[in-house]
Amino acid sequence: MIDTALLGELQTAQDLVTGLVEDLDDASLRQQYHPELSPLGWHLGHCTFTECYWLQEIIQGDDRFTAAVAELYTPPQVPKPERGARLPVRETLLQWVQGLQSINLETLAEPPTVLLEHPLLQDDYLVHFLIQHYSQHFETMVMVLTQRALVADPVDFQVREPITPAAPQPDTCTMVAGHYRVGGQAPAAYDNELPPQQADLGPYRIARHPVTNSEYLAFMEDGGYLSQSLWTEHGWHWQRQQDVQCPVHWRSDPAGRWYGIGNRGPYALTGNDVLHGISRFEAQAFASWAGGRLPHEHQWEAACRLQLLEQTGRAWEWCDNSFYPYAGFKPFPYAEYSTPWFDNGHYSLRGGSLYTRPAIRRPSFRNFYQPQMRHIFAGLRLVF
Ligand code: AVJ
Ligand code: FE
Repeated sequence: MIDTALLGELQTAQDLVTGLVEDLDDASLRQQYHPELSPLGWHLGHCTFTECYWLQEIIQGDDRFTAAVAELYTPPQVPKPERGARLPVRETLLQWVQGLQSINLETLAEPPTVLLEHPLLQDDYLVHFLIQHYSQHFETMVMVLTQRALVADPVDFQVREPITPAAPQPDTCTMVAGHYRVGGQAPAAYDNELPPQQADLGPYRIARHPVTNSEYLAFMEDGGYLSQSLWTEHGWHWQRQQDVQCPVHWRSDPAGRWYGIGNRGPYALTGNDVLHGISRFEAQAFASWAGGRLPHEHQWEAACRLQLLEQTGRAWEWCDNSFYPYAGFKPFPYAEYSTPWFDNGHYSLRGGSLYTRPAIRRPSFRNFYQPQMRHIFAGLRLVF
């Protein structure tokens, strides 16, 4: 039997992604709101397709529901700008999604032998994988809704109490040099968290809190975006070319006061809230300005495991190192989950954002993005 609580989590994960699009019309499901982000309807179809692909096609040898849509929902096969036009109409898509999700839940609740005895179901591995897959797409769909709100912003929000700049806090914890255990555990871990590693770390101090809105404002008001010496060469060219001057989720009102745009529209920023909406280039420039650095992901994980880090689930935190395979890495359940991104062009992020589901909040979870990405709810924490 498969753990019924876990199946409940899978159902919750399914309901959460469908819930995000319930109020949206056909055009909004097809619209691409950001060059890096697929349309909302595609995410929904892709999550359901992925579930059917593993449970029906791979395990039970049945491709009745997957064959016709495999091309559309397999990422490398259709470029993002073409995905919207190829989606079925809203009603058809939602019925297909909901129908197959219930079939899959029923199958898992009373699994045939071939499924129950399949290696992918050992320790309910595949159910963990599917829950986490939905959860990651849930967060990406919130990114899409946030970009949608940015496009729709009427630009007449009036800030009543503007946030004020604040010098970065010197509140750090000291880590002694040593060997620290890092990495994940089966069955929930993704391939890139395994096998567990021993990290040999020198001494360091790591900030107890991630960088706040007020601290980032201090950087901006101190001319952070204008001081080339704070930036890497690549970062400087990027921000000049893209004309980046503030976090991507920030706007200023007619009086020049900053406010935020979230998935439900404009909101008042709070100075002490954790900053998000910056690229790794901006994170590096901020760190230079503050006299610190970005942590190696194992510096972050070692401190997190000792429960020294606070507010770890408010924004993803850019790390110093690029995303790389651990010694002894074996790709699973499929090569494309992690392997293509070990390309020195993707960097690790740790922690989680406000939209990261509990299923992926763990000290060993490794997120990864290219350094110019700003739409991913990422900020930073300093090390010294
Ligand atoms: C790890 C969040 C970068 O969204 O591209 C989802 C996760 N992989 N489906 C992504 C993922 C396959 C991945 N990130
Ligand atoms: Fe996916």
